[in-house]
Order: sequence, then structure tokens, then C-alpha cells
Amino acid sequence: MLPTLIPALLLATLACQPPSQDSGPVDDTGPSHPCLQAGADCTLAETATARGVHAGAAVPNGPSDERLAAMTTHFDSATAENAMKWGATCPTLGSCDYTQADAFMDFAEGARLRIRGHTLVWGQSPGHGHPGDLATLAEQADDPYTFMEQAITDHVTAMVGRYRGRVESWDVINEPLAPFGSTLDESVFYNAMGPDYLDLALRVAHQVDPNARLFVNEYVVSDYDGDKALAFVGLLDELMARGAPIHGAGIQAHLYLEVPELDALTALIATIAALGLDVELTEMDVAKLALQEQLDDGEDLFEAQAAAYGVLVQACLAEPRCTGVTTWGIDDGDSWLDSMPPYDAMAPHLPLLLDTDLQPKPAYHTVRELLASGGEA
Ligand code: G3I
Repeated sequence: MLPTLIPALLLATLACQPPSQDSGPVDDTGPSHPCLQAGADCTLAETATARGVHAGAAVPNGPSDERLAAMTTHFDSATAENAMKWGATCPTLGSCDYTQADAFMDFAEGARLRIRGHTLVWGQSPGHGHPGDLATLAEQADDPYTFMEQAITDHVTAMVGRYRGRVESWDVINEPLAPFGSTLDESVFYNAMGPDYLDLALRVAHQVDPNARLFVNEYVVSDYDGDKALAFVGLLDELMARGAPIHGAGIQAHLYLEVPELDALTALIATIAALGLDVELTEMDVAKLALQEQLDDGEDLFEAQAAAYGVLVQACLAEPRCTGVTTWGIDDGDSWLDSMPPYDAMAPHLPLLLDTDLQPKPAYHTVRELLASGGEA
């Protein structure tokens, strides 16, 4: 359970008010907001709110008071890194414990953060992305299609229903495409139901909480104009053509291999928006491996990283329907990259906006300044 943090969080919040104004109350957003002026001394969260584009972070399980205070100070949106996943709440089908998910919700609501639910249906990571026994039960079922249809319906109904009206947007489906391919991943869900599982999950989520924005979230390899990116756009288009209730697309933006071309990512975001969808960069981090060239040229790691984050955020800000950017973790002291093979071999990756002392890095200032300027470098 997350410890009660109100006193610490309250102090942290009060300590970071935007500069006092001589005039009356300041609107939350709008070009005259003090946090949108050059040189403003505002946090990332204050600037994001003024700009109207969320700046979020993924919250790990059981975070420290200090980490949560930093989360509250610097970000205005929260995603549960693991606590709300199907396998995390229900390690075996039907045997569920929502303690961690409830604790995340209590913290995020207490800190008045926008909440992204992550993720209802994910074919990877059995025992975590989905119940560890799901595949076996589906294989053993007389009718795997009906079995899986019921399992997804029950889970989405339970999870979306539990937090109805409190989760602003859900990653209903995570990574429907093959990890490095451009066809649907032959996941436990696909093997039982074919593509129908996608429409089912979206439809049930919308029935249970009609006000939540429903996203399909994908790990699009760094070449944002490659086959996988095109396949992702095609999938979104097909789902919309079938009448599936989908409101947005998440581009995870984990930069492991390289820094994307600004034009390629900007074009991908614009193409998705042109379908009539919102877009968010949902899992940003910049691993050392993505900056190898710059490091070999003698560039400073944190400066090169700041430039990479600048590409991501500029691409988002170029599209009005890009409604948020989220880093996959709060600070460099806790990144999945440092414990996940094969990336752990290059640990520490130091891939986020706050350093291991929870202090802003050059990338934090780059992101904040871009949000303040609206994307002008
Ligand atoms: O909670 C258990 C703990 O009880 C156990 O002792 C420990 C040892 O195995 O495992 C712990 O669970 C781990 C969990 O993270 C919490 O730390 C899981 O094994 C481990 O697989 C899980 O990794 C997460 C991974 O998704 C799979 O769910 C990462 O933290 C998380 O950052 C990563 O996030 C994904 C997004 O959800 C989707 N996009 C890609 C992204 C990176 O892979």
C-alpha cells in the first residue's frame, strides 16, 4: 500500500506555485499564462497545464514518498507502470487482487493527476500482461473463441467498472502488432479469437465507461515511417471502419535503437490524427543505445538525450490532437531498461527527465521550454 503522502505531497505542491502575479487570478491556460513566457520559472506540470498538453510519467509499484512527491511536483498525468495490468491484478484467471491498482488510483487522485489506465489486453508477458494460465485454459477449452470472449468481457467489465469515471483514458489494447513485424501478433487472444478480440475489448470498455477515451497503444519501432508504422495506421483505420469505439492511438516512443527523424514522427502523428484520433506519446525514454552515435562523437549523454526528447515533444506539439507526452518512469533511479534483458547489459541507462536525485536534467528543461513555446525550438 502506498503510505499516506498528503503532508509531503501538499508541501511539495505548495512549494512549486508559478511566480506570483500583480494582476488578479491567472487562467489555467492561454498564451498569457506566465508559465508560457520565455524564461518562466515554472515546473513541467505547470507549463503542461498552461499549454493544455499533458506531461506525465509511469508510476512503479511501491514508490518512495520522495519519488511520489517528485511525481506530484513535476508531472500532471500518471500511468500505472504495472499495477493495472491484467496479469498484475489477476495472476491466475479469476483470482484477482486490486490492492496495487487501488493504491495507484488513490495516489494519482490525491495528487489531482490525470490518469491513464494501462493496460487491459496485452498478449505479451504472461503472468503480468495477462493471467499466467490464460493460454493453457484457452487451449483446453472446448470452444476457445467463446472462452476468450467471456474472459475478456469479464476482465474489461471488472477493471473499467472498478474505476469508472476516474480513468481519463485507457490503453485498452497494448501492442497488437508483432514485436518487430507488421501483422497482428499471434497472441493468446488472437489465437483464440482472431482480430475480433480487438473490437470486443474496445466495445466492452466503451459500454462500461462511455466517457473514457479508449486508446490502442503500440511500440512503433524508431523508424516511424517504416512497415510497422504503416501497419499500425492501417489497423487503426480498419478498427474505425468496423465501428470499434476507439478515440486515440498511443505511440510508445521508447528510443532504444536510434533517435527518430522529426519529419517521420511528425508525419505519423499527423496521419493518425487525420483518421480522427487523438495521439499521445505514452512511454517515452531515451536509452544510451539510441545515442551511441552521439556518444561516439564525444557528445555529452544528457545533452544528446535532451535533443532526442526535443524531437519527440516537437513532433507531438506540431499536431493539435496530440494531447500528452509521458515518460516511462519518474526518474533515472528506476527504469525498466536497467532490469530487462537485453537492455540491462548497458545499465544504467539514465533515460528519463529527472536524475537519480529526482532533480531536473537538461531533457526536463528542453521539454518544459518546448511546452512553453508551443514547439518552437
Ligand atoms: O511484482 C513481481 C515481484 O513480486 C517478483 O518478485 C518479481 C521477480 O520476478 O517480478 C515482479 O514483477 C515484475 C514487474 O515488472 C514489476 O516489477 C515482472 O516480473 C516484470 O516482467 C515486469 O516488467 C514490466 C514489463 O512491462 C512487463 O509487464 C516492466 O516493469 C514495465 O516497465 C514494462 O512496461 C512495458 C509496458 O507495459 C508496455 N510497453 C513496453 C514497456 C516496456 O517493456
